[in-house]
Amino acid sequence: MKGEILRALRESGDYVSGESLSKELGTSRVSIWKHIHRLEQDGYTVEASPKGYRLLSSPDLLIPCEFPGLEQRIHHFREIGSTMDAARKLAEGGVEQGTIIVAESQSHGRGRLSKEWLSPEGGIYFTVVLRPKISPIYAPRMNLMASVAVATTIRRLFGLKAELKWPNDVLIEGRKVCGILAEMHAEVDAVHFINLGIGVNANAYVSQQEKKATSLKEQLGREVCRKEFFRSVLMELQERQALLTKADLVEEWKSLSATLNRDVRIVAPGEEIIGQAVDIDSGGALIIKGKDGSLRTAIAGDCIHLT
Ligand code: BTN
Repeated sequence: MKGEILRALRESGDYVSGESLSKELGTSRVSIWKHIHRLEQDGYTVEASPKGYRLLSSPDLLIPCEFPGLEQRIHHFREIGSTMDAARKLAEGGVEQGTIIVAESQSHGRGRLSKEWLSPEGGIYFTVVLRPKISPIYAPRMNLMASVAVATTIRRLFGLKAELKWPNDVLIEGRKVCGILAEMHAEVDAVHFINLGIGVNANAYVSQQEKKATSLKEQLGREVCRKEFFRSVLMELQERQALLTKADLVEEWKSLSATLNRDVRIVAPGEEIIGQAVDIDSGGALIIKGKDGSLRTAIAGDCIHLT
């Protein structure tokens, strides 16, 4: 109902009487008034006058009612420990494919390889619960899918040259703007769920000392509309889910890659690989050519661009 009221007020751009809202939405005027009051509690400014209601301003919060059609699937938190933990609980409890947990800030945001992910207000932090009918060998391709979806959104909405660093960072001018964390629950031959966590430095402050990180705000010199960005990434993810086992996804990743053809150092548990990144295979693993011409494959790890 809140979403429908917002739509009606935005479409009009002017005063809309309680009576016409209640007729259009098939509910009582008291119920309209209650929902408007809830919108105000969420941070919307709605003027109420004898002429009716008029929407004066909307907060840039990722509230479910801003995403028509997805309201029932989005769980929104002003603050949370980590959306990954909430997603795991919900997934274990059986929530449906496509459930989204989004937070305005996280107190214990998690990154890959047990690193911390700073999550102040202004960023975009969410986890999508996916239940793909794929073999676990395709699971690393989730990272490719998510990074391609984010980079494509950044390019399309802002014209910035977003590129991909293997396995799953999104960079702008060589600095990280988005990180992706995938956690899987599976048997050897069947995936139960994969939780895909995405953190984007949108309008969040990134310390100038942090030379390896950047934000969309820093790159553009202005704040971005987080709602528009979130909506777009969800759409791009949706479109690519069918490609999960197809070669097109790998080709798309390659076309956006900042890692291929560079000298890299891969640090993985118990091993280090140095050489030129020459390709990724169909499972998303990086193929590295050593000085002696030998080829080695990295399935996971930290990737450092040396050139
Ligand atoms: C990385 O680059 O190390 C991955 C960072 C992933 C951060 C996101 S933010 C939303 C979700 N919740 C978390 O605690 N982590 C992921």
